[in-house]
Amino acid sequence: MTLQELQQEHAASLAALAAAGDAAALDALRVKYLGRNGLIPAMVKRMKDVPAADRPAFGKALGAWRAAFEAALAGRVAEAQAAEAPHAAFDVTLPGRWRGEGVIHPVSRVIEECAEIFHRLGFSVADGPDIENKFNNFTALNTAPHHPSMDASDTFWFDAETLLRTQTSPVQIRTMMANPPPVRIVNPGRCYRRDTTDATHSANFHQIEGLYVDTKPVSLADLKSTLAYFAREMMGPGIGVRFRPHFFPFTEPSVEVDFTCHVCKGKGCRVCKNSGWIEIAGAGMVDPRVYEHVGYDPDKVYGYAFGMGVERIAMIKYGIPDIRFLYENDIRFLSQLR
Ligand code: PHE
Repeated sequence: MTLQELQQEHAASLAALAAAGDAAALDALRVKYLGRNGLIPAMVKRMKDVPAADRPAFGKALGAWRAAFEAALAGRVAEAQAAEAPHAAFDVTLPGRWRGEGVIHPVSRVIEECAEIFHRLGFSVADGPDIENKFNNFTALNTAPHHPSMDASDTFWFDAETLLRTQTSPVQIRTMMANPPPVRIVNPGRCYRRDTTDATHSANFHQIEGLYVDTKPVSLADLKSTLAYFAREMMGPGIGVRFRPHFFPFTEPSVEVDFTCHVCKGKGCRVCKNSGWIEIAGAGMVDPRVYEHVGYDPDKVYGYAFGMGVERIAMIKYGIPDIRFLYENDIRFLSQLR
């Protein structure tokens, strides 16, 4: 075969590929040109008969043909498969494929919902760091220098001035120091205490802080109606709210806030230890000493603050019996949250 004939065969093979109508015809061409007894391998075998002077040019042309044919064949096969695929690859009788789907974690869900409810009352979301200084976490919150909550047995200290915040209340201080009144914020975040873990305690938990300070009178009644509105929105219309006198260094008067137990609706059960109530938050009217620390004039502002336990709310809202379920990420628990 001459070089010219080889080039004619090359062109003819590509024309045949272009004309082939389906996968079967393409396969026949593959066998004809590339198969064990195909034209191209046969040519390779006959190279030794080509005069030595012509061999390099012949070999080059043969290689080019093979490459061109293989590329064209692959392209045409892909086209043929695509044309036939809708019928061949889709079997309507096969069962669907199950795709594992995640859910939003109950702690995140409660935080998002709280922020949305307070947003409707005009509160915006403020932020603060987990690593705090002693001033923001204790001193400015009017905590006495030797208050037991400052003990190394209760608080994670890095050094004499730096700690993991034990509450979200330091965000009150940050917010007031950065903004003149009025302020109306909520702040969800992580808190850290040296608590021994059990069914209702964790060394790392979440709170939502609220702070409302205005230059117009704000009273305990405003605090109560705000938290009552929150309770109804979060837990449903039948929920009861009660305030019990309490003490916090940074509020005066101070209260603890209970919601009626969601399980027994206030009748008394194991979950609420037969009291009919579940403690949800600490709250009160901002103490004048706090205003002094942040540079507000205590005679000119009025305000309340509250701090709610996010896990507490999640546990009663979703009926979660043990706080540890929220952190262990056991798939048997998580998959029930769907
Ligand atoms: N920071 C308090 C706590 O962790 C809760 C609280 C917040 C109380 C705001 C009053 C006002 O217990």
